[in-house]
Amino acid sequence: MLSWDDEVKPTPAQPQPGLQPAAQPRSAAQQDVALDPSLMAKPAQTVNATQRMDAADKRVINGQTDVNQLVPFKYKWAWDKYLAGCANHWMPQEINMQRDIELWKNPNGLTEDERRIVKRNLGFFVTADSLAANNIVLGTYRHITAPECRQYLLRQAFEEAIHTHAYQYIVESLGLDEGEIFNAYNEIGSIRDKDQFLIPFIDVLTDPEFKTGTLESDQTLLRSLIVFACLMEGLFFYVGFAQILALGRQNKMMGAAEQYQYILRDESMHCNFGIDLINTIKLENPHLWTPQFKDEIKSLFLRAVELEYRYAEDTMPRGVLGLNAPMFKGYLRFIANRRAQQIGLEPMFEQEENPFPWMSEMIDLKKERNFFETRVIEYQTGGALSWE
Ligand SMILES: [Fe+2]
Ligand SMILES: [Fe+2]
Repeated sequence: MLSWDDEVKPTPAQPQPGLQPAAQPRSAAQQDVALDPSLMAKPAQTVNATQRMDAADKRVINGQTDVNQLVPFKYKWAWDKYLAGCANHWMPQEINMQRDIELWKNPNGLTEDERRIVKRNLGFFVTADSLAANNIVLGTYRHITAPECRQYLLRQAFEEAIHTHAYQYIVESLGLDEGEIFNAYNEIGSIRDKDQFLIPFIDVLTDPEFKTGTLESDQTLLRSLIVFACLMEGLFFYVGFAQILALGRQNKMMGAAEQYQYILRDESMHCNFGIDLINTIKLENPHLWTPQFKDEIKSLFLRAVELEYRYAEDTMPRGVLGLNAPMFKGYLRFIANRRAQQIGLEPMFEQEENPFPWMSEMIDLKKERNFFETRVIEYQTGGALSWE
């Protein structure tokens, strides 16, 4: 058992190549923590003991105000989303998985096609949310100079940890082969292709050499934010979510479906936050939104729709649960059009109808609407601290 002493025991300082100051050029976003003597010598927009911060001077990227001062607020929308994220708090182990375990272990409980859907789903998601968390913590966060947005990103990072926990909890509850599921992103083509599409957009932000401040680097950041919010969280998750929620709607794998329902609610907020962030950066930096940049974004959208459609085909070689791959062609086009419009691009496809209107109901889950009804704790109702 880990004692307090174990946790706080200091480790002797060892030189670590990645942590040497010379290897870390600093962006404007990092100036608040810089010990760089050249910064300390500056007359200081960033460090000024006499002039207090004016919220009007805040910027989402390349800001010069103190990132340690959350208030006065400028980006109230980001703070409101932080509060909403906290109000939606949940934990995976609160959801009863017993019926799922019985169904999974019953040889006649599910068809082979239904089992394939569950395993492929977990195969994608067990690593996807780690990618998302690392992207926020090691990439995006340090390039964002608005403290309200950083506050939301901190909450979002914890939610990504909860999601990875939820997927791991389902894998463990069902007694699935961990090696098979956690390696799916290397071993299953339709999953690997989605991740390989995403990874370069994450790597560029986590590269210690990368910093914003030029047209090219600011566009690089904006491009990665769009890929992450609109295409990863806003598109690549949706075939999988629809499949597991469709199982739940047929009274199968209700515990897993409930976990996914809470995750879907969190993800739709992540996606909306990302879109607000993108649109605010556009507003503050209109020169980034060039015709060439827009064309590039459109082609990324088209590629993402293609990859997600291939994933739909791979996970549903036959019709299952009233779903089939061709239905998802329409659904993905519908979502891609919506994401494009949300960031100010023209729709990319002919007007597509939503073939799954029930998914919208699931996304709009309110506290009192618990479709699968296995969870009992309601964090929002408890306002007082209790030590027991
Ligand atoms: Fe997530
Ligand atoms: Fe997310």
